[in-house]
Amino acid sequence: MNELMRELLMLPEQSSTVAGEIDRLHYFVILVTMLGATGVAAATLWFLVRYREGSALSRRAREHKGAESPGRSGTRGALLVEFAAVGGLLSLFLLWWVIGFRQFVRLHSPPDDSLEVYVTAKQWMWSFAYPNGAGSNGVLYVPVGQPVELTMTSRDVVHSFFVPQFRVKQDVVPGRSTSVWFEVTRPGRYPIYCTEYCGAGHSTMRGEVIALGGEDYARTLEGLSPIHLAGATTERPAVVGEQAPAEPLSLAAMGQRVAAQAGCLRCHTVDGTAHTGPTWAGLYGATIPLEGGEVAIASEAYLTESMMDPRAKVHLGFRPIMPSYQGFIDAPQVGALVHYIRTLRDVPRTGGHEPLPERVEGDVPLVQPLPGLPPVSGAVPPEAPP
Ligand code: CUA
Repeated sequence: MNELMRELLMLPEQSSTVAGEIDRLHYFVILVTMLGATGVAAATLWFLVRYREGSALSRRAREHKGAESPGRSGTRGALLVEFAAVGGLLSLFLLWWVIGFRQFVRLHSPPDDSLEVYVTAKQWMWSFAYPNGAGSNGVLYVPVGQPVELTMTSRDVVHSFFVPQFRVKQDVVPGRSTSVWFEVTRPGRYPIYCTEYCGAGHSTMRGEVIALGGEDYARTLEGLSPIHLAGATTERPAVVGEQAPAEPLSLAAMGQRVAAQAGCLRCHTVDGTAHTGPTWAGLYGATIPLEGGEVAIASEAYLTESMMDPRAKVHLGFRPIMPSYQGFIDAPQVGALVHYIRTLRDVPRTGGHEPLPERVEGDVPLVQPLPGLPPVSGAVPPEAPP
């Protein structure tokens, strides 16, 4: 049934764990609409023939016109049919919605053991940075049978990451980070397309996912060269005498270097002590009280926004003096910084820093309360800044 429908609808292979589920909803919607359309067409035909001009029925209807109104039982019967039809359609719609919503939530909740890859889109290329500090352009290497979470941002305009075989598509937006996850079920090569018009080279903005078995994957990652960070952040200390094997930097270590070179550490501490800006210790995943009484969760998106547009959401109790880093640090550096801040999430806060009231354990959920709505829980009463 699945194969038949897939062939009929000309869908590509299902190569991720969610693909089958998404296709089933697709089939359900298509089948119901096709059945509905056939029913309406059949009824139209039937009425055309049955009540055509000059038929016995139409003549009788003309004779009886105005003579008598339908009886009470007739009205009640018609009403019942109408209620049943409306109720049936409503519950069908509700069922679609429930299935769709559950899939949406699943697609936006990466499993805890996800492998994290940072994706940078630019005109007209995809770049990938892996947790071991390696990088690749155009080709995304993923392991088979392990969930992979992509944290994505753009250096210029809006792009969209699409792998048809995985049934996964997500916009990639400059100045903020979006995320998507998938788990590949079989080794192979899968095309990546950009599905948001992004300029003259949009149609050439393609890439490829190469899914490999566990050992092949580890070996391939080892062989990749470290990502290049602008500002010579990957340069290695010169060793006089013996040849020290060049240790590739992990993404977190790169983030640490970027933080030092970009001057972040002049205001932000990483050991939990108080300073000009909020400490990065225990920051990731915390609920941040904002100026104006609202709160934000320190997710990848919040951290990215705070670097690009620091005045958008100011941490309560801190002066809005941080300059924007838009244009000063590029996307791989933002990815490395965010990753570095993530690794500091379990460092305790001390010395003047109130422990933050609430923490999201594991990955920060991507579905967050809309701005302007009251927070779901852990509301922080606004206090006067010191
Ligand atoms: Cu990138 Cu279209």
